[in-house]
Amino acid sequence: MTDDALPLADATGLQRLLVLGANGPTGREVVQQALDRGHRVDALTRHPESFPLHHQRLRVVAGDATDPAVIDAAVAATDAVICTIGAAFTLKPVEVYSATARGVIVAMENHHRRRLIVVTSAGVRRSHHQSGIAQVVAYGLMRHVLGRTVYDDMVKMESVVTASALDWTIVHPPGLVSVPGHGYSVRADEIEGNLCARDDLARLLIDQLADDHFLRGIAAVATPGLTVGAGHMIRHEILKR
Ligand SMILES: NC(=O)c1ccc[n+]([C@@H]2O[C@H](COP(=O)([O-])OP(=O)(O)OC[C@H]3O[C@@H](n4cnc5c(N)ncnc54)[C@H](OP(=O)(O)O)[C@@H]3O)[C@@H](O)[C@H]2O)c1
Repeated sequence: MTDDALPLADATGLQRLLVLGANGPTGREVVQQALDRGHRVDALTRHPESFPLHHQRLRVVAGDATDPAVIDAAVAATDAVICTIGAAFTLKPVEVYSATARGVIVAMENHHRRRLIVVTSAGVRRSHHQSGIAQVVAYGLMRHVLGRTVYDDMVKMESVVTASALDWTIVHPPGLVSVPGHGYSVRADEIEGNLCARDDLARLLIDQLADDHFLRGIAAVATPGLTVGAGHMIRHEILKR
């Protein structure tokens, strides 16, 4: 075994994580919670100057996640990768999810790293829990009109990830909100619930490092019973994008 193949995790299970999309609202939660739980964290962002967290076990890595050289160097220094990269809805083609996944997988294979946890969305396919006509129409508008290019690239990302030989988990949250969660629920493939608090999603993502229940599968996560007003959604989720 070369040095490069040696896992960096210590005997307590604490690991060195690479968080992609670390400067997004979910990524920041993942970084903070991972630090709180004793892990070492490498946080990749294109905008290190605006990254708000500081810690002696945190290293902020500047770069674009679709740059294979950046990703290769970042992966070499870590045990596991959590990807929360995101793109806003646009009518233009989107490639950031699939391009990131391709580079990460090549780098993880090169450096003999195994654990990859990626966030896409419950919206990539219609849930059996969406039954009423209004729900079906709203889903169709979101999936096939407003968010088509984003969701299509998430599907590509999922194809790339599932074709790899890594220990992957794909995480499907519904709508994300930055309000305090009260604990997540998780099921294989699908779960009832329209919202997930980002702190609950972050907890689930970090929990996956020590949980093989969803290995090579889809973890559908939600915060049960969570509701927020339309005003909150418009101010904090839609207008901020
Ligand atoms: N918002 C929702 O309701 C929702 C619902 C379901 C699933 N999701 C998914 O959940 C995840 C987290 O969503 P979120 O709303 O918390 O975060 P987000 O606003 O989508 O932000 C993710 C971060 O990705 C980073 N990023 C984008 N392109 C990058 C690139 N080429 N290289 C490096 N970083 C890049 C950006 O950080 P920098 O600009 O600093 O690099 C951005 O802050 C995403 O995968 C999203 O698609 C979101």
